[in-house]
Amino acid sequence: MSVLASILNTQHLGVDDLVTLLSLEDPAELERLYAAAYAVKAREVGKVVYLRGLVEVTNVCVCECRYCGIRAGNPDVERYTIEAEEVLAGARWAWDQGFGSTVLQGGERCDGAFIDYVEGIVAGMHEMSGREIGVTLSLGEQREDTYRRWRRAGAQRYLLRIETTNRELFASIHTDDQSFDQRLECLDRLRSCDYQVGTGVMIGLPGQTAADLARDVLFMRDRDVDMVGMGPFIPHQDTPMADSLGDFEQIKDRQLELGLKMIACVRLALRDVNIASTTALQALGPRGRERGLLAGANILMPNVTDTRFRRGYQLYDGKPGLDEGSEASCRALERSVEAVGETIGYHRRGTSPHYRRRKSGSKSE
Ligand code: 5AD
Repeated sequence: MSVLASILNTQHLGVDDLVTLLSLEDPAELERLYAAAYAVKAREVGKVVYLRGLVEVTNVCVCECRYCGIRAGNPDVERYTIEAEEVLAGARWAWDQGFGSTVLQGGERCDGAFIDYVEGIVAGMHEMSGREIGVTLSLGEQREDTYRRWRRAGAQRYLLRIETTNRELFASIHTDDQSFDQRLECLDRLRSCDYQVGTGVMIGLPGQTAADLARDVLFMRDRDVDMVGMGPFIPHQDTPMADSLGDFEQIKDRQLELGLKMIACVRLALRDVNIASTTALQALGPRGRERGLLAGANILMPNVTDTRFRRGYQLYDGKPGLDEGSEASCRALERSVEAVGETIGYHRRGTSPHYRRRKSGSKSE
């Protein structure tokens, strides 16, 4: 058996196996990797894509992450916070379109007014949907009582990316007051508050190695996460990391490919989790998100934020989807999902089988 075939048959992938997979470059071998991951996806979570309507509720942020376009210190961003009523109207629209769940994402804010605001929106979404809707929050590091309040209001899921598990790399892309251990503690808190927990990393950071990414995959497996959202790093011109990868146009395709390889590796290693095919993939290639589905992802997060706020939420340059979320683009999305031979799981929350198994106590081997 070839080295690749034997790795693809391995039940419990190790660092070296993952490094080999992440280093593949031969197109035929890459196709074999994606096909193997796709087979695991089809078996474990099915060929159904679940939609999460993404609302970017605010771009106000207290953090100074060195890669991020909406970092607090960027004076060129016009800051906004969408009125709660308007967020609810957007969530209702997505619900009426058949999106079984919504993600509220925003800059990191820990002030009391913001905590109340989020709590009110989550409660309003449940009122609107007869407590049927899936609600995911992606609002950064918070105190335990805040996580509890939002959970009590009805949020079932929380996404908090670790960004990278290489501590030195983590330190180099953040500021001194952001700590890796604090991030881990928040992931623990979310788990103990009974959320379905998602994490993820940025892929292709300057100085990041295949071994770093392999360890990222194993981190997600060891943490027993329910959901994964990750995407390629894309430099933003107004950040200290603007030129950190040299001429980005030159490496765009490789960055996209690395993103796809990571999706495949996470699918092979974690099997029954939900994996998002993220906007950052789409930003690097016109069929980026469809390719993500074919490499093992099963979740799409169409942006349903009102278009007048979109420009204010440029985490990286060239973020696509300025009119995404309109009815026409929902149909286009449907066609592209059908084109890869899958269907959309309308009106369903799409909870990961991993979470259900975790709750019922059976292992998912
Ligand atoms: N490129 C890619 N992803 C980014 N994010 C922030 N800035 C960038 C960038 N320049 C991601 C981070 C964050 C999520 C909301 O967006 O991983 O957790």
